[in-house]
Amino acid sequence: MRDNGIERGEETLDPADWNDFRRLGHRMLDDMTDYLEDIRSRPRRHPTEKDASMICVRLTEEGEGDERTYQVFRENILPNSMMLASPRFWGLVGGQGSAYGMMVEMLRAGMNGAQEFADAEALVNTQVISWVKEMLGYPAEAGGVLVAGGSEANFTGLAVARNAKAEVDVKAVGVQSVPRRMTLYCSEETHLCLDRSVELLGLGKDSLRRLPVDDEYRIRVDALERAIAEDRREGLHPFCLIGCAGTTNTGSFDDLEALAAIARRERMWFHVDGAFGAWAHISRTHRHLSRGMEKADSLAVDFHKWMNMPYGIGCTLVRDRAAHFATFAYGHEAEYLRTAFDVGEDHLGNPHNLALPLSRNFSSLKAYMLLRSNGTRRYADLVQQNIDQAHYLAELIGRERDMRVTAPVASNIVCFRYAGQGLGEEEQASINRAIMDEVNKREFMMFSDTTLNGRYMLRACFVNHRTRKEDVEYLVRRVGEIGRRLEGRNP
Ligand SMILES: Cc1ncc(COP(=O)(O)O)c(C=O)c1O
Repeated sequence: MRDNGIERGEETLDPADWNDFRRLGHRMLDDMTDYLEDIRSRPRRHPTEKDASMICVRLTEEGEGDERTYQVFRENILPNSMMLASPRFWGLVGGQGSAYGMMVEMLRAGMNGAQEFADAEALVNTQVISWVKEMLGYPAEAGGVLVAGGSEANFTGLAVARNAKAEVDVKAVGVQSVPRRMTLYCSEETHLCLDRSVELLGLGKDSLRRLPVDDEYRIRVDALERAIAEDRREGLHPFCLIGCAGTTNTGSFDDLEALAAIARRERMWFHVDGAFGAWAHISRTHRHLSRGMEKADSLAVDFHKWMNMPYGIGCTLVRDRAAHFATFAYGHEAEYLRTAFDVGEDHLGNPHNLALPLSRNFSSLKAYMLLRSNGTRRYADLVQQNIDQAHYLAELIGRERDMRVTAPVASNIVCFRYAGQGLGEEEQASINRAIMDEVNKREFMMFSDTTLNGRYMLRACFVNHRTRKEDVEYLVRRVGEIGRRLEGRNP
C-alpha cells in the first residue's frame, strides 16, 4: 500500500506522499506571495533561447513530476511573462488580479467545482447575480449568468436578442428561414467582439451597421435614426441596438438614455456592452455616464478588467428571464442530464440553461468571495481612483510642451502622443511607434496604441489597482525623455 492508500498497480493523480505535496504547495504559495509583494521592482524580461528550450520540450511518457515542472514555471515562465500584474500596466484593458483572488482560484480548483445548479454552489451563483444587479442599478427582477469574459457576455446577450426578436423559431429552423434580413446598429467605436458575435450567430457581419460618432466618440443619434429608417424602407428588420458603456479606444459612453428611447420606440432589443465601463456606475463622479444602462434588455459586463478578479469571468444580465432561458435551455430531453436539470428550484436561474457551456467552473465563487471580502466601497474607491488617475495624466500631459492629449477623456482612458517641436503628422506617428516599442520591450506594457480618425496615438487605460500617482508621473517623464531623444533633442 502506498502513502495515498492505493495498491501498487493502481493509478491516481493524488500525490504519492501528501506531506511532500504540502511542502511543495507551501513553497508555491510563498513564491507567488513574494512575486506579488515585489511586483513593483521586478524587471521586465522576455524568454531567452534557453528559456524557450526549457519550455518547449517533448512531452514524456513518464512525466517529469510536480517538482521539476514547477521549477520550469518558476524559472522560465513566470519571470518572462507579460507581467500584467505590474503597477504600470495600462495597455489594452488589462486587469491585475489580486493576492486574495489568487487564493480563491486555488480553493475553486481544489474543490473542482463544475456545477452551479444545486447546493451551496447554486446559492453562491444566485447571490453573485443579485449583488451585480444591485451594484450596477439593474432591475432586481432581471436574471443573469456568469460567463468567461466580455466577449462571451456580449455573445450571450445578442443570442437572446436574436432569438427573442426573430420572426421565426430560430432554435428550430435557424436564421436561414427569417423572412426579412435582421439588422443591428452600433457605433464604429464598438468592440470587435460584437462583430464576431454577429457573425457566429449567423446574422452576417454586414448586418451590423457601424455608425459614425460625434467629437466625443459617442454614436451619432441622427445617423442611427436615419439608418434604421432606411433599413425599414428597404424591407429589412432592424431588431437590435447596441450601446457602448465605455469604448475600448477612448472610454466614451454612448447616450444610453437616448438609445433606450429609440429602442423602445422602434420595438428593438437594447443591448449594452459595459465590459469594463459599466463599473463607472459605482464611481462618485462619473455615475451619470451610465444613465440609461438600467433600461437595457441585456447588459454585458466583466469582472476581470476593472474589478481586477482573476481572468475568466464576465456576466450577462438579461431583463426577460424567460427569453434568456428559452435561448439556451437544452438537455431536458437527454436522460443523462435529467437529474441535473430537474432541480425543482428556480429553473430560470439555473446557469447551465443560460449560456453555452454545460460544465461550468464555479467561477461565481471568486466573484462571491472577492465581493464579500472587499465590500462595495473599496471597489467604488478603486474605480474612482482610476478615473482620477486618467484625469491626472491628461492634466500632466497638458502641462508638457511636447505632448498632447488626442481624444476627450471621458472616464478612465487617455489617448495621447508625443508631438515634439514642429514635427509633421508622419514624423509624429513614427516617433510614437518607436516610443511604444521601446517602452514595451524594456518595461511593462505601460500603454498600447490605437488609430483614431486616421491618427496614430498612444493609449493608457486605468483599471489597475496597484497604480500610484508617482507611476502616472513616471509615464509622462519617460515618454518625454524617449521622444526628445528620438527627435534628436536633449532628453
Ligand atoms: C468594451 C469591450 N467589450 C468587450 C471586450 C472583450 O472582452 P474580453 O476580452 O473579456 O472577451 C473588451 C475587451 O477589452 C472591451 O474593452
